[in-house]
Amino acid sequence: MVKIAPSILSADFSNLEAEIEEAEKGGADLLHIDVMDGHFVPNLTIGPVVVESIRDTTSLPFDVHLMVSNPERFIEPFVDAGANILSVHVETSPHLDNIIKTIKDQGVKAGAAINPATPTGYVEELLSELDLVLLMSVNPGFGGQPFIRRVLKKVEKTRQMVEEQGYHLEIEVDGGITPETAPLAAKAGATILVAGSSVFQGHKSIRSNIQALKQSLV
Ligand code: DX5
Ligand code: ZN
Repeated sequence: MVKIAPSILSADFSNLEAEIEEAEKGGADLLHIDVMDGHFVPNLTIGPVVVESIRDTTSLPFDVHLMVSNPERFIEPFVDAGANILSVHVETSPHLDNIIKTIKDQGVKAGAAINPATPTGYVEELLSELDLVLLMSVNPGFGGQPFIRRVLKKVEKTRQMVEEQGYHLEIEVDGGITPETAPLAAKAGATILVAGSSVFQGHKSIRSNIQALKQSLV
């Protein structure tokens, strides 16, 4: 079954604990945490202090998406803060193999994230080392942007590479996921869907918004 990972980027930060609790009760499978540094992307968000402070509010796995330059500097702080999955952008370093190894040596799952304009070939030689490939379906930096449909081809290509090479890693699609786009991403081969604004800023409650996404996948 395709998993739903609500992104707290679109949550009400003055009420974060309650919103996370509602997401967990509403059927979230993972909690997606968007870390931005104002350098790799034009926005600043969450650091390890916040991650640590919410760690005890939920038993959901923390899926930490690092949108930062020099991601190697931040591996240990986010692992110590409670990350279960750490994804780094392939565009940030020519030494991704080392970075992925460092993440795995810390005992957490490792993901490689790729921007809409970056070819899927960037992760092909790394698939044996990865637990997850994160395909951005918006340009990273902000929630609430429209889904870029041409990324669906990249999802299909990634699924094909993973199957051809016989791996069982997760394929995560992040950005613009709604009950309309979720089935398209799932059909193309995604196994985890990140949803920020459609969960936390949708028309209904957090629980109903998650249920609407799950319903769209049946
Ligand atoms: C964008 C982030 C996404 C974002 C998704 O840079 O990586 O995780 O929170 O938000 P929506 O679902 O609103 O596109
Ligand atoms: Zn994200």
